[in-house]
Amino acid sequence: MCSVLKIKEEGLLKPVNELNKVLFYYFILIISIVVLVSYVSAKHFTNPLIRLKNIAKRISQGDFNVKVNKTTNDEIGELYDIVKIMKNNLKGRKESLELKLNKSTKEIKKKNEELRKSELALYNIMDDLEKANKQILNEKKLIEQKVRERTLELRKAYNKLKKLDEAKNEFISIVSHELKSPLFPVLGFIELMLKGEMGKLTKQQKEKLKLVYKNASDLLKLIEDMLTLSKLDLKKLNLEIKNVNLANLAKSIKNSLKPVAEKYKVNIKYNGPRKLMIKADEFRVKEAITNIVRNAILYNKKNGSVLVNVDKEKGYAVVTVKDTGIGIPKKEMDNLFNRFYQVEKAAVRKHEGSGLGLSIAKGLIDLHKGKIEVESKFGKGTMFKIYLPIKKEA
Ligand SMILES: Nc1ncnc2c1ncn2[C@@H]1O[C@H](COP(=O)(O)OP(=O)(O)OP(=O)(O)O)[C@@H](O)[C@H]1O
Ligand SMILES: [Mg+2]
Repeated sequence: MCSVLKIKEEGLLKPVNELNKVLFYYFILIISIVVLVSYVSAKHFTNPLIRLKNIAKRISQGDFNVKVNKTTNDEIGELYDIVKIMKNNLKGRKESLELKLNKSTKEIKKKNEELRKSELALYNIMDDLEKANKQILNEKKLIEQKVRERTLELRKAYNKLKKLDEAKNEFISIVSHELKSPLFPVLGFIELMLKGEMGKLTKQQKEKLKLVYKNASDLLKLIEDMLTLSKLDLKKLNLEIKNVNLANLAKSIKNSLKPVAEKYKVNIKYNGPRKLMIKADEFRVKEAITNIVRNAILYNKKNGSVLVNVDKEKGYAVVTVKDTGIGIPKKEMDNLFNRFYQVEKAAVRKHEGSGLGLSIAKGLIDLHKGKIEVESKFGKGTMFKIYLPIKKEA
């Protein structure tokens, strides 16, 4: 029974199993078709995107020659168009940037070249400067050496000259002294002869003797001047400082020179106080003022005048000697106090001096710490001012 049932059941299940088998195959087929369709459709969408991705990658690597051709007219095709526009824009930008870069590079190169040239020129200049500097330093050293040598030579020469000058002054001093001494008796004798105390003289003899007397006195004055100058130079002129009434001294100088003024028809006056005390070497101050007053008489005009005045001014006693004489040209003023200097125009001079009077006056007044000032108008007259420091009265 059981086996009959079993056969029946098997017969019944057979078509069912057959159907199941068919269904299974169908199912497999359908699944395969679905998978295939999905695969194909997936390929259809992803391929253009992968291509686009590669294109974008190449663009990003700077390859702007890559072709961007769309294959479809759907959204992906639009994406291709956008990428193409983007690529072209980028390419344009890149080209314009490259152009600018090229231009800038060229300019930079040019500037670099110019800079290099300038640098080279600068180096050359610096080189030249360095050479010039070295040369200057060498020359400076040479000059300094020469200056040192010359200074040494000059110092030696100066010392030699100084010694010679001192020797000369010493010589003049001695000779002057020796010459001066015999002149006094000579002058004394002539004076006696002129007075007739050594026998009567003819008119002609008297005239000749007067000439000899004048020449001997001029010689004595010259010797005395030389002696004073050599003493000043040797700084051996020692002042004998005493209380001196300058007003009195000026007046006495005027009086002693009155005969000379009369001789030359010049009116001489003193105008000032009776007393103005200073401390000075009377003999030397007298010598200085006399030289100046004598000049005022000698370089005067006929009927001209000389005014001697004494006054106080800013701590100084001042002797003013004003004349209406021939005056001194402006260009001569600077040399006036130089030794042996005489103004050319004074060729019409009545006086054959030696040009020492003013330099002696200056030397003596300087020694008293005073000063001399001159103002003159050529053709009109001259004014000398002798300043001497006022010292307390003793
Ligand atoms: N008051 C003056 N007016 C015009 N010229 C003057 C006057 N004083 C001096 N000089 C000029 O200055 C020169 C120098 O005078 P300085 O007294 O030194 O010499 P000097 O009178 O020629 O000779 P020395 O005085 O030695 O006998 C004079 O020769 C004269 O030309
Ligand atoms: Mg004189």
